[in-house]
Amino acid sequence: MTLLDIDPSKVDCVNHGQIPFREEGAADLLKQVVGTRLDATLDDTCIATADTVITVVGTPVDKHLNPTVNELCENVDRLLERMKEDALLVLRSTVYPGVTRLVYDRMQTLRRKVRIAFCPERISEGRALEELVKLPQIVAAFEPEAMERAHQLFSIVTSTIIELSPLEAELAKLFTNCWRYLNFAISNQFYILAQSYGLDFYRIFDAVTRDYPRMRGFARPGFAAGPCLLKDTLQLAAFAGNSFFMGHAAMLINEGLPNFIVSQLRPFELAKRKVAILGMAFKADSDDKRDSLSFKLRKLLEVEAREVLCTDPYVQDSSLVPLEEALARADVIILGAPHSVYRQLSFPPDKIIIDVWKHWPDFSNAAQEKNQSAAR
Ligand SMILES: NC(=O)c1ccc[n+]([C@@H]2O[C@H](COP(=O)([O-])OP(=O)(O)OC[C@H]3O[C@@H](n4cnc5c(N)ncnc54)[C@H](O)[C@@H]3O)[C@@H](O)[C@H]2O)c1
Repeated sequence: MTLLDIDPSKVDCVNHGQIPFREEGAADLLKQVVGTRLDATLDDTCIATADTVITVVGTPVDKHLNPTVNELCENVDRLLERMKEDALLVLRSTVYPGVTRLVYDRMQTLRRKVRIAFCPERISEGRALEELVKLPQIVAAFEPEAMERAHQLFSIVTSTIIELSPLEAELAKLFTNCWRYLNFAISNQFYILAQSYGLDFYRIFDAVTRDYPRMRGFARPGFAAGPCLLKDTLQLAAFAGNSFFMGHAAMLINEGLPNFIVSQLRPFELAKRKVAILGMAFKADSDDKRDSLSFKLRKLLEVEAREVLCTDPYVQDSSLVPLEEALARADVIILGAPHSVYRQLSFPPDKIIIDVWKHWPDFSNAAQEKNQSAAR
């Protein structure tokens, strides 16, 4: 198996047996196969001999938050030109609805005879190895032969294969991410509501979830960010002709959580305070800072606080400081990503703690306490 990429640093990293990002169990597995059953390359001649090509390039929204299609289609054109007749092309990126049809039509216009399938990736970053074999795989194609070949391919890794039409599968992937994003928005909205009234959200959360199965899906509040959830909600909003009201509401709520945190801190005379953000990755135990709301929080605080110190054990960023320095110098400590390694931290009583996730159950949320006493 050959991994083709345009980024020399990633290719080099993989060929030296290293994973370019944190992924549970992947480093050990890579060491077993690199140089024998798997290698990485910048040389696209490997496409010409492949029976199957799986493409999973990024599909970000543009700077105006519109879905992008051109880059993916240009990449597909290059693949179609080079692939051998009857080879299978699997689109695995999360795509704007209708892209599989575009690619299929493009293949016919170019008079190429390649089998095309859309098989969306549904793993959660960091848990790919566990989830790839556990989760059902959705496969979609316009032609029965392409469907059958995709079905066989993914049967190697997982036992449940679900067949859909391409448009159904494209929507299935977007619905999956949007559903998650909407659920986080519900929790964040309830959190903001309770805290605004000086209440401890988690007393209510514990009460409604305890031994009450219908609330099992009630997620804990926290930053809902990263390269997928917001981007895919924007893709669905564009597909819905900008009438995806729940999606837009969710975006306002989730993207507004850093602003809410700052508003909760204003009574503490922020201009005199040094603030530390612990965790700059977009989610717990990840090294991925793409579209992390911790960076939005930093920007907002830089306008109002005396100093902002940011730290993360996994994220590579020259502007970050060591954890010890952040803890020693800051008066306000905000949890930005609930990394497991932060769980055991303890803080002197004079520090102001903001912990949306309740990752530190022994330390009460300072802003909420202040609001409570003001409300009394
Ligand atoms: N990251 C995840 O856990 C995850 C989960 C589910 C779905 N997805 C979807 O998968 C897609 C990729 O996401 P990602 O986070 O891995 O993106 P990414 O940007 O981190 O990775 C894409 C890789 O493709 C390479 N690349 C770009 N253009 C190329 C080209 N023309 N030829 C060869 N390689 C090229 C890049 O150098 C990069 O290494 C997106 O559509 C995303 O929504 C990602």
